[in-house]
Amino acid sequence: MDIVSFLKSKGQEQVLRFYGELSAEEQKSLLTQIAQVDWDTLSLLDHPEDLSGKGRIAPIPILSVPEIEKDRARYAAAGRKAIAEGKLAAVLLAGGQGTRLGSDAPKGAFDIGLTRPLYIFQQLIENLLCVVKDCGAYVPLFVMTSEKNDASTRAFFAEHGYFGYKEEYVRFFVQDMAACVDLSGKLFLEEKGRLARSPNGNGGWYSSLMRSGLAEEFPAVEWFNVFAVDNVLQRIADPVFLGATLMSGCDCGAKGVRKTDPDEKVGVLCLENGLPSVIEYYEMTEENKRLSDGAGGLVYSFGVILNYLFRAEKLREMEKHHIPVHIVKKRVPHIGEGGELVVPATENGYKFETLILDMVRLMGSCLPFEVIREREFAPIKNRTGIDSVETARELLAFNGVKL
Ligand code: UTP
Repeated sequence: MDIVSFLKSKGQEQVLRFYGELSAEEQKSLLTQIAQVDWDTLSLLDHPEDLSGKGRIAPIPILSVPEIEKDRARYAAAGRKAIAEGKLAAVLLAGGQGTRLGSDAPKGAFDIGLTRPLYIFQQLIENLLCVVKDCGAYVPLFVMTSEKNDASTRAFFAEHGYFGYKEEYVRFFVQDMAACVDLSGKLFLEEKGRLARSPNGNGGWYSSLMRSGLAEEFPAVEWFNVFAVDNVLQRIADPVFLGATLMSGCDCGAKGVRKTDPDEKVGVLCLENGLPSVIEYYEMTEENKRLSDGAGGLVYSFGVILNYLFRAEKLREMEKHHIPVHIVKKRVPHIGEGGELVVPATENGYKFETLILDMVRLMGSCLPFEVIREREFAPIKNRTGIDSVETARELLAFNGVKL
């Protein structure tokens, strides 16, 4: 079937509207982009009701801070040994757009220092270097970027000498993109020769990393510690967390903090139909959110902080399962029928995203590992107010970091 008939059969022939105006090179590029469209994902729009709804929810027993303290030495020894044997790699998720922070530069390039420059990337690398020192071994670090920030992220690391990390242990890979559609499912054009696309969500890390082939350069790796760019306090490649997860026999571990405010916007780890699962704050019922444990706490209190351990072998099996795709209503700038740029004031289309939190359920078992909020959770989402540069600075200072 030729491309025109193919697109017609999909109801998407509008993407060729400006084809005749394009150079040969632009035409070729547009055809490549069309060939890369995931039509299965797009077809989810035909029956969105299949994607909603949660199973039966129950609380999950967690490994609490006092329990961890009791066994800290044993866990740390097991974790250090595995790290020294090259069994752990770290994966920094830096493919997001950081819209709330409102900077065009990669989020990790944001300077949070007061009397000296202190970039988010720098603080994360310093946290990781503590482990390198402690274990006497470098942890391979994979940095996931997006098409939009890949070049600037690489340049930023190079310019700053990898913040003291050994360059040979750092690899960058670009996250896959997903096409965006209007509210009736038609593909948008961003330019006359380019489909409108956006990063496919942080659940895309594993398939994108595998496609890059970079993981094969570290064949000893058995575990991935995946973490978000914006929590400047988190311990990365934490030997205690790794040791506890190894000794638990689980295929996954999730760091979390105790939620005290029922309305805090974090996902909650619980059991869904008997399996560990993270429920997003907007998916929890009001009743479950506020359910009291009778001792002043919440029943659903284990808030995840986007710092997970995944067993590589299990991830390979998981590839066969489809990670669920979330259809998210967003504002999508595009070009109109006359070729003019349209920047919508309201949501005008859908993006397709996979979420790392859905991987927890697919892993089948998970160790909920509690950390102390003031020591390990300082997310930077906004410039001011809740989860902001201001609150992160306070917490860094509290932990003795010079700003
Ligand atoms: P957030 O959901 O906080 O998104 O990402 P964000 O892009 O950083 O910020 P906003 O919502 O636009 O303000 C949580 C983590 O997942 C990564 C982010 O970089 C961050 O580390 N992420 C998110 C990706 O790597 N890729 C994505 O497509 C989305």
